[in-house]
Amino acid sequence: NKKSVFLGIESSCDETAAAIVARDADGRGEILADVVLSQMEEHAAFGGVVPEIAARAHVEATDRLIAEALEQSGISLSELDGIAATIGPGLIGGLIVGAMSGKAMAYAANKPFYGVNHLEGHALTARLTNGVQFPFLMLLVSGGHTQIVLVKGVGEYERWGTTIDDALGEAFDKTAKLLGLGYPGGPQVEAAAKAGDPKRIALPRPMKGEARLDFSFSGLKTAVRQAAQNLAPLSEQDVADLCAAFQLAVAETLRDRVGRSLARFRAEGLAAEDRPALVVAGGVAANSAIRAVLTSLCENQGFAFVAPPFRLCTDNAVMIAWAGLEREAAGFPADGFEVPVRSRWP
Ligand code: KG4
Ligand code: ZN
Repeated sequence: NKKSVFLGIESSCDETAAAIVARDADGRGEILADVVLSQMEEHAAFGGVVPEIAARAHVEATDRLIAEALEQSGISLSELDGIAATIGPGLIGGLIVGAMSGKAMAYAANKPFYGVNHLEGHALTARLTNGVQFPFLMLLVSGGHTQIVLVKGVGEYERWGTTIDDALGEAFDKTAKLLGLGYPGGPQVEAAAKAGDPKRIALPRPMKGEARLDFSFSGLKTAVRQAAQNLAPLSEQDVADLCAAFQLAVAETLRDRVGRSLARFRAEGLAAEDRPALVVAGGVAANSAIRAVLTSLCENQGFAFVAPPFRLCTDNAVMIAWAGLEREAAGFPADGFEVPVRSRWP
């Protein structure tokens, strides 16, 4: 049972990461090393990711993290079967750092280089962690992305819905900021909401009921701002109630959008097995109110709810190494060293 072993490198946003992952001929994966360095603290003072700071931090950390991953795995550079790095979408400075590191190592060690789409990494993770079979539906909700994607096979993706303005994680972060809570905002909003009354303040459910499967969150954020201005000065209870109302609005919006997507999956006859999977990815998938909604939706509509471990839902290099391995196994040729980085890559 021949194994293939890849180094993966991720640097598209504010995490620098390196990982070593193996895949056997039956498609079973094994994580041999997984190192992630978050730049969260360097960006916290600004309430969001600052591209220039991110690029510098990647330069400082990348080679050290790659060396650490190789050491952790006990695999030498010459024993690798390939090197995969994220080449988009994301912040261009960081992408250049990771992609050039990967290409340089691949060139020096004479290994195939795979340039991976970050979203493909998120999409294929559940096959490593849960052995999920194609086709399945993915809900990606992170600080940079909000998408519903039909995953038909390696390299075969259909985007069914996306946000027309803010990403969901971004909406959590901006809402937290305007309520005076810290960054990243998601966990703070979730914590504050626990003491809040979700029904006291009425907020909109953007896009609810619309046939297209897209999202919109900037109006919701504006509605929170207006409600906060009407209540100012805000008591601790006001903040808790606003957070609870925001989270409920988000959860009900997701119930509608994802519920429709599951129905469409069935209606189009895509379900090969009786319990196809809904896979979640992205940092917002950590939110327990959102998880509760998705879990009950899946139960009602006969889907398996699959959430990879949180560490692999957020940005990491395991998913990049794995995507490279999946591409190799599916017969995709390696990319040449000329393959460019792309900040936008739908
Ligand atoms: O996937 P991720 O770690 O990074 C990228 O955006 O690529 O996602 C980070 C986002 C942030 O916007 C953060 O506020 C949000 O995920 N997040 C949450 C929670 N934990 C993290 N949002 C809602 N509830 C949470 N518990
Ligand atoms: Zn991501």
